[in-house]
Amino acid sequence: NTGALWGGRFADGPSAELAALSKSTHFDWQLAPYDLAGSRAHARALQTAGYLTADELERMLAGLDRLEESFLDGSLQPADSDEDVHGALERLLIADVGSELGGKLRAGRSRNDQIATLGRMHMLDHGRRIGRMVIDLVDAISQQASEHADAIMPGRTHLQHAQPVLLAHHLLAHAWPLVRDLERLRDWSGRASVSPYGAGALAGSSLGLDPTAIAHELGFARPADNSIDATAARDVVAEFAFVLAQIGIDISRLAEEIILWNTKEFGFVRLHDAFSTGSSIMPQKKNPDIAELARGKSGRLIGNLTGLLATLKGLPLAYNRDLQEDKEPVFDSVAQLEVLLPAFTGMVATLSFDTARMAELAPQGFSLATDVAEWLVRQGVPFRDAHEVSGALVRYCEERDIDLDDPTDEQYASVSPHLTPDVRAVLTIEGSVASRRGAGGTAPERVAEQLAAVTRSVAEI
Ligand code: ARG
Repeated sequence: NTGALWGGRFADGPSAELAALSKSTHFDWQLAPYDLAGSRAHARALQTAGYLTADELERMLAGLDRLEESFLDGSLQPADSDEDVHGALERLLIADVGSELGGKLRAGRSRNDQIATLGRMHMLDHGRRIGRMVIDLVDAISQQASEHADAIMPGRTHLQHAQPVLLAHHLLAHAWPLVRDLERLRDWSGRASVSPYGAGALAGSSLGLDPTAIAHELGFARPADNSIDATAARDVVAEFAFVLAQIGIDISRLAEEIILWNTKEFGFVRLHDAFSTGSSIMPQKKNPDIAELARGKSGRLIGNLTGLLATLKGLPLAYNRDLQEDKEPVFDSVAQLEVLLPAFTGMVATLSFDTARMAELAPQGFSLATDVAEWLVRQGVPFRDAHEVSGALVRYCEERDIDLDDPTDEQYASVSPHLTPDVRAVLTIEGSVASRRGAGGTAPERVAEQLAAVTRSVAEI
């Protein structure tokens, strides 16, 4: 017997090849604190049900505490021969409290309900941590919005000049998806807060252990309703991987814009030295590497999600060893976001905007043509005609290489009798932006309300 958790019915130990394939300690060791917490709760349940004396429980808990201390100071390590975190910790517990006592802990639980539980604990912890990081990013975006309350930029569709918008409006359009990601994390955590502990291998426990007490001790809202589902389902893992991928995608969209804005051609932003990088050969370079890594890593997060979904597809009930493959993708998505988000937030918080350049470009590309058409509608012209007239004005100006507000009164009248000199009132970017007062529009008072609403939404999560 090799000391593995399942040696009894085997005459021979596992081959070296199998052991190498099967081993998961190199990635599941980070679950050790959750495994130890589960063991403490399980030991209490065993004592309540009469399988441990009060003294045995006390010695068991003391041993588990010592393992936790050595884990935290880094001295507790799995051995080469350990298959997974569960086996390693049982071996280490037995080494500490002796095999007579240490050997009692496994009663009524299986690695199948353990691993499903530990995975959820890990995700819930990191989900909270990532949520706080997303809040920091939303705060940084909101801060930039409030510091540039009046700045106007060219709003684009198809990456072409479309209509002028407030920079704050544009920035907040990146904050809202992140607010929804926070809501997704919150909603997901309600579904994740169900404990598989007590499901055993698949069929539940015969020992009269109380899964509710264990669930509550581990911070879950309640135990699972079905022991097969509890050990076999990983939809909660996939959903978490999706929310992390969506966060990556939402950051990547802003990253792409920052990369464009930082080009000489746009010239909308400058990156702080502390949040940009240089080139090893070109001395003048200042590169947006954080934004590029955000864009790159979001592809990786999508890969983690799709790989996991492919693993789960078509698995029969109940536990299958394929499920060991759920951990690395999620651990990776967590690790990438936890290193990316603080850097990304720092970059956003320290961006400096060239608002004069943005304002100069905002009316270009005839981006006030819609304002002309809507002004005509307010004068009682049907929209079809208004669109025609405004289009004709654009053509007239384009042919003469002038702006929409350059024609004389006579020239306006020659394009259409509807174009009276009053049209000039809407041919400023300030007038255009101020006129879009409808709910959710880019008028300054609407954007101020939005900023307050973002802050409120984040505070309520
Ligand atoms: N290491 C496994 C996993 O990550 C848990 C152990 C269950 N193994 C088993 N043969 N039943 O899913």
